Amino acid sequence: MTDVNRQILLKKRPVGAPAADHFESGEGRIRSPGGGEVLLKNLYLSIDPAIRGWMRDAKSYLPPIAIGEPIRSGALSQIVESNAEGWPAGQIVQGIAAWESFSTVSASNLHGRVERIEGIPLHAMLSVLGGTGLTAYFGLLEVGRPEEGETVLVSAAAGGVGSVVGQIARIKNCRAVGLTGSDDKCAWLTDALGYEAAINYKTADLQIALKEVCPQGIDVFFDSVGGEILNTVLTRLNRGGRIALCGAISQLNAGERPPGPSNYLQLLVKSARMEGFTTLDFATRYDEARAVLANWIREGQLTYRDDIVDGLENAPAHLLRLFTGEHRGKLMVKLADPEV
Ligand SMILES: NC(=O)c1ccc[n+]([C@@H]2O[C@H](COP(=O)([O-])OP(=O)(O)OC[C@H]3O[C@@H](n4cnc5c(N)ncnc54)[C@H](OP(=O)(O)O)[C@@H]3O)[C@@H](O)[C@H]2O)c1
Repeated sequence: MTDVNRQILLKKRPVGAPAADHFESGEGRIRSPGGGEVLLKNLYLSIDPAIRGWMRDAKSYLPPIAIGEPIRSGALSQIVESNAEGWPAGQIVQGIAAWESFSTVSASNLHGRVERIEGIPLHAMLSVLGGTGLTAYFGLLEVGRPEEGETVLVSAAAGGVGSVVGQIARIKNCRAVGLTGSDDKCAWLTDALGYEAAINYKTADLQIALKEVCPQGIDVFFDSVGGEILNTVLTRLNRGGRIALCGAISQLNAGERPPGPSNYLQLLVKSARMEGFTTLDFATRYDEARAVLANWIREGQLTYRDDIVDGLENAPAHLLRLFTGEHRGKLMVKLADPEV
């Protein structure tokens, strides 16, 4: 094994949208694991909006990425050397790694072992059966709590999380309506994912389009976008409506703290609820959700799309697609195949 570790480092902090010149290539040494540590070969990197948050010099549930450090990422990795009991070499694991070929981490920080499921590719353990699918599952079913026949509106509906949310809504016999940023993606939502209708929010007048497409109003809004879209949807919420606050990608590159939605009193008028969540809130129930999602995939009720590029050097450009919307489904970068 080479002892050169290829890396992508944070060169400078973005103000506004990230761009190619905020990253630089680097090389580090591969460090043998100390007590309680494992050396990981990184296989797939998960490209998530959370990375943009960690590039900011601000407190979060994890510290910011320092200038000159590798970018941090959710990852699927294989243990190549272990100094931690219960974590043998060869085991595939999920956790937070970095944009580098190899990472040495404390085993206590790993999120768990990954067991392959027959007929399902390994990378799906990072998407529909990983954080993306779990976010969709718990956010919709436990926070949005849709009932049969209700209208469920989903923003960023063609993305990793949103493409799963609409399908779960349909499986639960709800009417799924998606918002996305191109006509092509609208067609994909209705033709391939079973969304009943889709709105291109970039070209439509959202207020008018929502009246047309959701004439009975909106019972559940699964929101990953925030900003003006959230503010408009608040005015179409039904009595007892629920907003599952998953994310606010439209605000991630904003320099200033986003303004509150001026229509928030609609929550009062409609006796409605807006509730935030993180997937971690449901950590004790991941296995249960994975089993249900895998079953839906086997039965042909749930499909998924992983938008994968090869090569560490392509990770920055892939991250930028989160903000331009030039993708469908879950973004990830493939670095290597596992050793069998
Ligand atoms: N709460 C949690 O625990 C949790 C966990 C994971 C992810 N999340 C959140 O879930 C959301 C989706 O994450 P993902 O990884 O699945 O990403 P994604 O949906 O695959 O990609 C983001 C999508 O957002 C849309 N978008 C980007 N900028 C926008 C803007 N200014 N206005 C409107 N739409 C915009 C783009 O699609 P269009 O072409 O449709 O614009 C883009 O494809 C994010 O908000 C993320 O922070 C939350």
